[in-house]
Amino acid sequence: MAESQQLSALRGHIFACTKSTEKECLEGMVFGTNKIYAEKINRVKAGDKLFLLNVDSDKLYGTFQATSDGGFNLVPEAWKGKYPYQVRVGRHKEEIKEMENAKKVLSKMGISWKGSLDEYQTKAILSYLGDPQAFDWGPLAAERGRVKKPERAGLESEKPRLESTTHWDYPKQSYGTTPKGSNKYAGVTPAFIIYNLVQRYTDPGDLVVDPMAGSGTTLDVCKEEGRKCIVYDVVPTRPEIIQNDARKLPLPDNSVDLVFIDSPYGDNIRYNEHPANIGHISAESEEFYDELEKVMVESHRVLKPGKVLGWLIGDQWVKKKFTPVGFKVHERLSKHFDTVDVICVVRRSQSSNTGIWYNRAIRFNFYLRGFKYLFIMRKPLNEEISQKKRKVAWKSYERVKKRESG
Ligand SMILES: C[S@@+](CC[C@H](N)C(=O)[O-])C[C@H]1O[C@@H](n2cnc3c(N)ncnc32)[C@H](O)[C@@H]1O
Repeated sequence: MAESQQLSALRGHIFACTKSTEKECLEGMVFGTNKIYAEKINRVKAGDKLFLLNVDSDKLYGTFQATSDGGFNLVPEAWKGKYPYQVRVGRHKEEIKEMENAKKVLSKMGISWKGSLDEYQTKAILSYLGDPQAFDWGPLAAERGRVKKPERAGLESEKPRLESTTHWDYPKQSYGTTPKGSNKYAGVTPAFIIYNLVQRYTDPGDLVVDPMAGSGTTLDVCKEEGRKCIVYDVVPTRPEIIQNDARKLPLPDNSVDLVFIDSPYGDNIRYNEHPANIGHISAESEEFYDELEKVMVESHRVLKPGKVLGWLIGDQWVKKKFTPVGFKVHERLSKHFDTVDVICVVRRSQSSNTGIWYNRAIRFNFYLRGFKYLFIMRKPLNEEISQKKRKVAWKSYERVKKRESG
């Protein structure tokens, strides 16, 4: 094979270890990481060049070669299950070489060890490990100048970042190269919300259920992330969506790893004419919350203890009247679940994002809806323990108050 053909397939990845995990990486010939870098593992293909960076000793070892694609739990016993996103490795050449002061050298090469390595970056490390003294920095600088930025960004920009705060904002409904749901569907869910929940609260192979699936965004996200997924709606828009009323799920108790629901927010959108569509009921009436609570009870029943329900909902301002739909939904949810957290999701693509609506909001002195709530709720591991815990916390609060007043 010609040299240029070989080089075009060259890809690399740097995996990190510490002084306590290095031995197991090298003896077991498996590199692993946790959920935070799951995406990185998914990008590894058999044959890719791999390097191991000990972040404590600041040494980089190489060169290794991936002997499997990146996967989940390839060696379940490795690191006692702490780093289940793994790749099996072999040696690229018999002798494993070392790069001293690795973080400084990589930074001088313009390489971040957290991302994937493109062809020129992989070549640079291979050549440095071959003979650090003879490494010629000149052509590297010239080649870096020639690399087009968008190509390199392409590798990383396929998936959204995992959110670390309670304020989530993403510019587009979808991401990556394949569509997630349909942005022609009124009320479609931004796919990055489901992506974040799936990454945080499930592992590959887990079962995710969306009882109100609309255009199927949850299904598309789960397919790409290697999760099993069952989706329902009163009016299915795709063959994979099963016709079903969310108030009665045809699933056994304690069988699901994550439920995601983006329910109607009241009767503001006409999804379809089906009589069981909860989106025909006004959010100003208690009936709306009573019907949603039936969906909550079913979600609770099918979820495994300790697993999570994500519920997306927005408030309503209609005909000069504000309805705190989010607070009311949370009140119902917290009868059955513990709250893990409340996320503020920025509303971007909506019909009121226009100059006319801006002028109306200022002229008539009201606010346009700028965010939705994402309630992250957990089915308690043991309902009794969860109740007891609440009691103890309350008693100690009472004691503190008494002490203060005495
Ligand atoms: C906000 S949309 C869901 C959007 C969806 N996540 C997506 O990305 O396309 C709400 C959906 O709830 C469905 N729905 C309303 N009442 C329902 C019920 N009782 N059972 C099942 N689905 C219902 C509607 O048909 C609608 O598709």
